[in-house]
Amino acid sequence: MAAVALVQGASRGLGLEFCRHLLQHRAPAAVIATCRDPDTAPALAALSGEYPDRLAVMRVDITREEQVRSAAERLSSTFPKLDLLINCAAVLHPSGRGETSLRDVSAQGITATLATNTVGPLLMAKYFSPLLKKGTGAFGQQPEDKAKQHCGVLVNMSARVGSIGDNALGGWYSYRMSKAALNMATRNLSIELGHSHPKIVCVSLHPGTVNTDLSRPYHKNVPQHKLFSTQYSVQCLMDIIDSLSMDKSGKAYAWDGSEIPW
Ligand SMILES: NC(=O)c1ccc[n+]([C@@H]2O[C@H](COP(=O)([O-])OP(=O)(O)OC[C@H]3O[C@@H](n4cnc5c(N)ncnc54)[C@H](OP(=O)(O)O)[C@@H]3O)[C@@H](O)[C@H]2O)c1
Repeated sequence: MAAVALVQGASRGLGLEFCRHLLQHRAPAAVIATCRDPDTAPALAALSGEYPDRLAVMRVDITREEQVRSAAERLSSTFPKLDLLINCAAVLHPSGRGETSLRDVSAQGITATLATNTVGPLLMAKYFSPLLKKGTGAFGQQPEDKAKQHCGVLVNMSARVGSIGDNALGGWYSYRMSKAALNMATRNLSIELGHSHPKIVCVSLHPGTVNTDLSRPYHKNVPQHKLFSTQYSVQCLMDIIDSLSMDKSGKAYAWDGSEIPW
């Protein structure tokens, strides 16, 4: 059967572009796009109109566990396997801007950010890993040694600012903490899903600074050549995904393939 990829958080930004890229460049792969409200995702609806036989759209708010669980149940009744899961959805902060200092921190803001950026992707891993375990290794590199081969790839979209070792500037408490914790989830997942048979490759990826709604409040501070288009960033990230194997699992990589310290 052709490859099956699921992009979680696909209404706009990088998630939407991952879907477009997979549909344009990975035929005949089937793509499942999840978003919290398909009725307010016109670009995704248009893409679905272009590829009615290969793109399925499902409603999933990742802060609602019952929606994640029921989406996994529905998917497994339609598809026998999943080869790639990309956890894309995130918020910078409910206010749209990261905290610049402690006085901006609120319990509500940090809790909501963690729920979307950290807990949501982990719930996706919980409910969709059984389907990933039925994957046929359609993404990434497979060594000849069968014991080192993988069946699926799980990508958590993270951010360089989630690196504790790389943090020299401070600020953005909620977003930084949510991505640092997501990186810990990636590492844990790589251990649990990498020891069993069949094995799943789990990585965190940083897309660069990309021209999307999430980074929009900060675009004026970014030199033009460092503000990537979604097309460029996704091409770079797909090149990394294509190069993945079990020995690269449990790590974080930037858009250019370099490893990011935890
Ligand atoms: N853009 C950058 O410069 C940059 C840099 C580093 C890392 N990243 C990471 O890259 C990933 C994609 O970011 P982006 O720039 O594409 O962001 P974006 O354009 O702001 O899109 C965010 C996506 O997350 C979805 N989302 C938010 N809360 C959700 C929820 N509870 N349930 C389901 N979906 C939800 C949004 O859906 P709605 O349309 O329903 O709101 C939207 O599809 C994120 O993980 C982000 O942290 C981005």
